[in-house]
Amino acid sequence: MRLTRNVLSLALLCISTASIAQSSDELVYNGEIGRIINENCVVCHQEGGIGPMQFESYEQVLPWAPLIQLKVASREMPPYAYDHGIGVQDLLGDWRLNQEEIDKIVAWVDAGAPLGDLEKEPPRPEMKGPNDWNFAAQLGQPDLIVLSESMDVPANGNDLISTHYVPSGMVADRCIKAVQMKPRGDARAVVHHANAYADIVNSDGERERYGMITEYAMGKWGEMVPDGVCRTFPAESEVRWSIHAFPGGIGATAEGEMIEDNVVELGLWFHEEGYESADNLYKQDLVRYNLGFEGERDASNLILNMIVPPNGYGMTQGFHSFDHPIRIDSYQPHGHLRLSAASIEIFYPETGRTEAISQISNWSAIWHHNHIYGPESAPLIPAGAVLVLKQWYDNTADNPNNPDPDQVVYGGERTTDEMSHAWLALTHLDEDGYEQLLADRKEKEERSLAEND
Ligand code: HEC
Repeated sequence: MRLTRNVLSLALLCISTASIAQSSDELVYNGEIGRIINENCVVCHQEGGIGPMQFESYEQVLPWAPLIQLKVASREMPPYAYDHGIGVQDLLGDWRLNQEEIDKIVAWVDAGAPLGDLEKEPPRPEMKGPNDWNFAAQLGQPDLIVLSESMDVPANGNDLISTHYVPSGMVADRCIKAVQMKPRGDARAVVHHANAYADIVNSDGERERYGMITEYAMGKWGEMVPDGVCRTFPAESEVRWSIHAFPGGIGATAEGEMIEDNVVELGLWFHEEGYESADNLYKQDLVRYNLGFEGERDASNLILNMIVPPNGYGMTQGFHSFDHPIRIDSYQPHGHLRLSAASIEIFYPETGRTEAISQISNWSAIWHHNHIYGPESAPLIPAGAVLVLKQWYDNTADNPNNPDPDQVVYGGERTTDEMSHAWLALTHLDEDGYEQLLADRKEKEERSLAEND
């Protein structure tokens, strides 16, 4: 008995000395912790960034250590809610920390958030400033920047929606390589979301709707169009802006004061001229797919048949299928303050099987992410399979974003109404293109298996 206890305590002693050795080596700010914070947090938590406090030095980080531990352990920070272990995990622009990094932050704060060796400051990677374009490092400055008209947003009051047109200046159709929309300067705090559509102006000067260019919402990184497909930005077009501003802002970023001269910038990077007439080029489009009913509207634009009851829950589903194969390139669920979860699945009628593609169980209206699937993982869907979109709404007091659980929530445009749709960028394939992509993937997989042997 005594022997066992001694062996046990000896083992425990070994474990604890090992972890102390590790923490003195690297679990200090001037080491692994500063590296994690610099690489994952400072991009927003810097002077002029959207984060409400700065984490550019140990002195700035230290007072926040307990809250950092809480927000990192709960995966609220960095802000990228996307479930682990379900569906496609290979995403571009994914801000999530891995479990090991989370554990390190937690252990560091438990140990009293030590600085470590005074001389060893953690490296600060080259990083974009708060006003820089996200794709500048890879692609340089945009080939085209279209500015919205400016708008002033008061500190209080109802939502403001500005719809107006600005000529794009495009003289020929071009294929988009990447696109980012961003509010300039202080506008970041009050622009809840903004849509940019392309309308074509015909020879009679009339506008015809062409399609969606991109939707911005807070935190969105941008969109990249995969190689070998064309998402067209048309010639002779105007950008139809629809900017939705929320007086007083959303989340902790708003200052609670009048924010003047808000401009939203649309940046576009194009493929070289002539790319649009290349062989074997498939069309990609970005389209809004509705869930449930979005039909009937009353005079104030409320969508009558979508209701979330007071102190209750709601759920919507949408089913979409195509007569040709497709590839899902990105997925961006959309809703407002009561939306709490969203998912996309594929149902295969022939086998009766359902496959999970993406799930977000902890959705928050403060962040609208576009989940871009990695080029090797973007789901390839045969003709006839059904996209199943689901969204869940929480109108109870448990929902931290809920301004008033006693309200009946209708569908509508205002932030306090609800919406239920998802933006999907889809590449529209034919049978040959689909078989080819499947074969390419299989070959790559076999090659990498052989290399690993
Ligand atoms: C994309 C920008 C972005 C990134 C990246 C980011 N944050 Fe934040 N953070 C914000 C914004 C905006 C807020 C305020 C709104 C909110 O709380 O959601 C915030 C709030 C916080 C808060 C305060 C929460 C509160 O309740 O007051 C903490 C702590 C925090 N972030 C820690 C971190 C840490 C640690 C990282 C990196 C591991 C990180 N953040 C990465 C933008 C970001």
